[in-house]
Amino acid sequence: MQMDQLVALCKRRGFLFQSSEIYGGLSGFWDYGPMGVELKRNVREAWWHDMVTAHNEMITPDGAPSTYEMTGLDTTIIMHPQVWKCSGHFDLFHDYLVDCREAKRRYRHDQVFGRWVEGRGQKFFVATEKLGDQRQEEMQHRALKFLGLRAKNAGELDWQGPMVCLTGIDDFASVLGPDAKTLGTLTEPREFNLMFETHTGAIRDQESKTFLRPETAQGMFVNFKNVLDSTRVKIPFGIAQIGKSFRNEITPRNFTFRSREFEQMEIEFFCHPSTSAQWYTYWRDRRFRWYVELGLSGDRLRLRDHDADELSHYSTGTADIEYAFPFMAEGEFGELEGVAHRGDFDLRSHMEGKLDPKTCPLQLEKDEHGQPLHRGSGRDLSYFDAETKERFTPHVIEPSAGADRAALAFLCEAFSEDEVPDEHGKPTKRTFMKFHPRLAPYKAAVFPLVRKDGMPEVAREIYTRLKPRFNVFYDEKSAVGRRYRRQDEIGTPFCITVDGQTLADGTVTVRDRDTLRQWRIHKDACPAEIERLVSA
Ligand code: GAP
Repeated sequence: MQMDQLVALCKRRGFLFQSSEIYGGLSGFWDYGPMGVELKRNVREAWWHDMVTAHNEMITPDGAPSTYEMTGLDTTIIMHPQVWKCSGHFDLFHDYLVDCREAKRRYRHDQVFGRWVEGRGQKFFVATEKLGDQRQEEMQHRALKFLGLRAKNAGELDWQGPMVCLTGIDDFASVLGPDAKTLGTLTEPREFNLMFETHTGAIRDQESKTFLRPETAQGMFVNFKNVLDSTRVKIPFGIAQIGKSFRNEITPRNFTFRSREFEQMEIEFFCHPSTSAQWYTYWRDRRFRWYVELGLSGDRLRLRDHDADELSHYSTGTADIEYAFPFMAEGEFGELEGVAHRGDFDLRSHMEGKLDPKTCPLQLEKDEHGQPLHRGSGRDLSYFDAETKERFTPHVIEPSAGADRAALAFLCEAFSEDEVPDEHGKPTKRTFMKFHPRLAPYKAAVFPLVRKDGMPEVAREIYTRLKPRFNVFYDEKSAVGRRYRRQDEIGTPFCITVDGQTLADGTVTVRDRDTLRQWRIHKDACPAEIERLVSA
């Protein structure tokens, strides 16, 4: 599947639109259309159902070291600025960017690649933002143009060494920027904090500066004690939250994959330090299985354990659940979810304001009152186990997923094409979205074969009986073949058709989106049949 086919279908069928499109759009922001909003809501609801509400704390789930409880939270997007100082986001949540003085464009330092080339006595580094297979072709074109050569002179170019990231290049004077025509137009890399800033209250000064949260996680850490005190949960337990997060990404790209406003589905799982390694393995495997169960296929989905040098300073283990999105080069994967063993870093930071001196020397900085800038809350966020009489700071396992990335992966995976005969028997291409029935925007569509002979009345009756339980669609306009195609393109797994036989014996046909198999059931059995099919 080509990505532009999916992007076109998403627009045509109302899954995704560019935000503020009538004003030319706003980079990194996306709106979910009538179908998209249902898809994403189903992703969120499947996650919340499977991780929180359907979780039974009386039964030890497969692979878990013991039973555990799950609870939820819905915390604010804007929080006390001290939260971000203690979490490390204030000092450490940045990317490096380089500017191009000539093209007036900005790039993420680690996302520009290129190769050294020699031609007509000049050696220079050709940089590109392109991905995968497009890179070499684009670099060749630009190197030739820079030297004033034509395509037929490509043999004069002597490409040297492999493709490397700009982060490995010291000499920017010889770099031809991704959109530049001359050498040396890129600035030195500089830090760029990804948090969006705003102000709370009427006065816009340093004191009133606040931030839009870049992750939902901190809302759960700072409420750890509130959850303990207001419920009967005991460790081990998890807090779950779904909500918007904001990051001022330097180069938002690849449809919704890297957006500036997006939704996260995060769990903070609190456990005793002695069992945290087992809980980490449990969550890593459980979260991976969740994607498989909802239809992401084996070879495009992988679980990748981070190497020791990739781990955050506080983490003893992190794994990414990754998907081979079609916009990535062959063999490359993009992160869907990170599962991290965070130790006691977060609770301790919010208690003591203690950040690792190696990564955050600013912890010693003082404000105008002589108070450490990164001071914690001073509240006791430890846990007392009444049975063992032990007091300890819990360890945290954090499965952190992106709802938009998951929705995008489900869209990519669902996109399918085959050939079916049209109403005249001529083979025609069919596009269908093979969503798992739990994720499909509509679970079923109900059609009268024709708009006469009492068929619409029977179809409406079936629709009305299904509607309170399932999101179903009624359609009586145009030829039935066209109605099927429309439902196929929005991924409706089942279509129920009322025809002449229905009027004689009360049976209707049920059509399966993927196999095109049709079978007859009595019209009164439709709710039970759809229930059976959707939960199969
Ligand atoms: N609390 C940990 C945390 O936020 P992260 O790896 O930065 O970890 C977790 O983000 C997930 O959020 C990612 O795996 C991804 O699915 C999603 N995510 C992060 N940045 C995103 C962006 N700019 N656009 C869309 N989704 C994003």
